[in-house]
Amino acid sequence: MLLLAFETSCDETSAAVIHDGGVLSNVVSSQIKLHAEYGGVVPELAAREHLRNLLPVTRTALAEAGISAGELDAVAATYGPGLPTALMIGCKAAQAVAFQLRKPFVGIHHHEAHLYSPWISGNPVRARFDEFQSNVSLIVSGGHTLLIHVRSELNHRVLGSTVDDAAGECFDKCGKLLGLPYPAGPIIDRLAAGGNSSAYAFPRPLIREDHDDFSFSGLKTSVRYFIRDHPAVLEDQQMIRDLCASVQAAIVDVLVEKTIRAARRLGVSCVTASGGVTCNSTLRRRLAARCERFGFQLRLADPNLCTDNAAMIGVLAGRKLGQQPAGMNWDTDIVPGLQLA
Ligand code: KG4
Ligand code: ZN
Repeated sequence: MLLLAFETSCDETSAAVIHDGGVLSNVVSSQIKLHAEYGGVVPELAAREHLRNLLPVTRTALAEAGISAGELDAVAATYGPGLPTALMIGCKAAQAVAFQLRKPFVGIHHHEAHLYSPWISGNPVRARFDEFQSNVSLIVSGGHTLLIHVRSELNHRVLGSTVDDAAGECFDKCGKLLGLPYPAGPIIDRLAAGGNSSAYAFPRPLIREDHDDFSFSGLKTSVRYFIRDHPAVLEDQQMIRDLCASVQAAIVDVLVEKTIRAARRLGVSCVTASGGVTCNSTLRRRLAARCERFGFQLRLADPNLCTDNAAMIGVLAGRKLGQQPAGMNWDTDIVPGLQLA
């Protein structure tokens, strides 16, 4: 099964070629620099960039994989959730290619794809479905914070999500209060390495609540008030590092403790994580330590598969196509991405 996949849900234009679960190419063109001057993703600019970049990115993905479009067996794209105009570009391009080749189009739910990115690894890079175990999965990015119970392959239940800001959004907004450029998450990660995480006490919202939802807007507000009341901290490089470490510790504590508690409650043997915030070094370290303490296997998405990419879309599409009933009419039936139940 040779598959071309597109991901254009937010600010990454990506195309990948997947062959029987093996990632032959995964080309990602990031728009971060374009949106940085606006302090966040501007949907109209994102859509225009996808229009500009999708074709060259696709040509590169096909060339790196060493195949021509005529050899494809199927085409996949993220159908949601995401920025509507951005999604439309990837989806309509994929449908057009599928229509022209008279091959199936597979629509993929973005979060569902993130659930499987921790299972893509190795050299050569490929999907490791043979190693799959039921798990509790943390999806944590600039737009989403979700805890999901993956009961078996393609069988998931959302346990909780954020009721306000996403964790990545909290990193970025706290960074803005500190005068850091967008996206501030990776910068806070770097500065925090030289700081004291106990220097300042910030709240850990909902950490002890008996449910799996998250809330980060109150933490951001307390950082705002702290800076208003202690403006001198922004004049001192060591205090800024301490502040970064303290804010990061509060976010990471909540993410890690709620994930571990859900995993213990549900009796799974494995914890996984993906999404841009999973690049955070303290989150990776803390999850590893807590999983070791409770005997969970931990699978973290590789840093270049944490952020949005078409490889995870194509890998999941290939898996779904493999499970379609024989005799399906590809000319009329669109394979739907499963909704997360
Ligand atoms: O998954 P992603 O690339 O895009 C979406 O939001 O969909 O995630 C981007 C988010 C941003 O909020 C960024 O600040 C955060 O991930 N991020 C990090 C780190 N790397 C990226 N946050 C904390 N530490 C990092 N190392
Ligand atoms: Zn994502």
